[in-house]
Amino acid sequence: MRVLVTAGPTREFIDPVRFISNRSSGKMGYAVAVAARDRGHEVVLVSGPVALPPPAGIRVIKVVSAADMLAVVSEQLDACDALVMAAAVADWRPAEVSGQKVKKRDAATELKLVPTADILLTLKPRKGDRVFVGFAAETTGMEAEARRKLSDKGLDMIVANDVSQPDAGFDVETNRVVLIAAEGTAQALPLMPKREVAAEIIEWVERANRRVPAALAPACGSRAGDESARRLSRQWDFIREIDKLKRVLRRTLLMDGSRYENDAEHSWHLAVMAVLLREHANEPGLDIGRVIRMVLVHDIVEIDAGDTYCYDEKGNVGKVEREKVAADRLFGLLPGDQKTEMMALWDEFEARATPEAKFAAALDRVQPLMHNHGTGGVVWKAHGVKAGKVIERNRHVEEGSLRIWEFAESMIRDAVKRGYLEE
Ligand code: CTP
Repeated sequence: MRVLVTAGPTREFIDPVRFISNRSSGKMGYAVAVAARDRGHEVVLVSGPVALPPPAGIRVIKVVSAADMLAVVSEQLDACDALVMAAAVADWRPAEVSGQKVKKRDAATELKLVPTADILLTLKPRKGDRVFVGFAAETTGMEAEARRKLSDKGLDMIVANDVSQPDAGFDVETNRVVLIAAEGTAQALPLMPKREVAAEIIEWVERANRRVPAALAPACGSRAGDESARRLSRQWDFIREIDKLKRVLRRTLLMDGSRYENDAEHSWHLAVMAVLLREHANEPGLDIGRVIRMVLVHDIVEIDAGDTYCYDEKGNVGKVEREKVAADRLFGLLPGDQKTEMMALWDEFEARATPEAKFAAALDRVQPLMHNHGTGGVVWKAHGVKAGKVIERNRHVEEGSLRIWEFAESMIRDAVKRGYLEE
């Protein structure tokens, strides 16, 4: 992508030595530019007067006033895929600028101000498919004000921050922001270094940039077509996001012992097992389609919450809360009805009360047993897991399938006999 970023304050001169400006240090905007560069994008940084060195590998265009900034951003816009307006553009300028230093004795006691042009509002008609991100620095009513600006300025997303906090906003290294998207979702990030906030913003922009353009959506133009394009765009976001499940490693080695298995591989394995082993479920009439959906969905929350080894007692503390927050964020990427559907499947799996959930949970437990047996118990040994614990943790397999539990028990006995698992 080619990303256009603005940063810092602007200065609106009264005379050659005096100006009005604001407290912006440029740190947030510079961090956004650096994050975009580090993620492989071409960056143009339009910077007001700041004390920061120009970051390597970034084209920096220095400007002074709001009018200068508008002129440069306007000139650069056509070649860019995204605009991130982190600059604290002055809202007013003196109605008249004196060419000479105004002498104290001649100065009026009141300064007449006129509004500067709003850069985002001015460029709104030229937005097209570009991603527009604004910032809202507020001291009161942060979210409501930010949402108003998001809608007035036609943005895809606004980064709202409460600048009345000492550890967030102007001239500090950290920020606490809420990312509010045009679709209405709000993601509150904890206090974090501006560098990390910047990376989150750029990742968001990347996702937005890869959305299916409305023009490609079926039957676009009609109200139903627009709705279907919006749904596809959100579904696509989710599908892209769950690619990260392939990065979450489990404490299970592949059967050849060559590497750890990832969560996506685990889920796929369970789905195949569900198809093949359904005849062994305790409940003959169970809905196998729901079991498959459940096993495909059950680990997605681990993208944010991480994988917790089932024998790790400490790691399991706070797991429920962590996973709930993750489920809200991840399933929240989907259209509302699908979020509800996914949450219901995930809750059903976790509660293990229905025949489908019991069978899905049985598969989820027996698959790692097979891996442990197949690799000679390397992971069991590494974590000092004993046979009694394995039986205790996995006994609920029998609630889903007595036959599979008998099979699992014989695998455990055999593992003990062969010395893969301690008695
Ligand atoms: N902005 C802009 N042009 C201006 C002023 C602001 O493009 N003349 C951009 C900022 O870069 C920011 C967003 O608009 O991305 C919101 O800026 P902010 O100062 O929070 O809001 P204002 O629109 O100036 O409203 P107010 O001062 O009333 O809060």
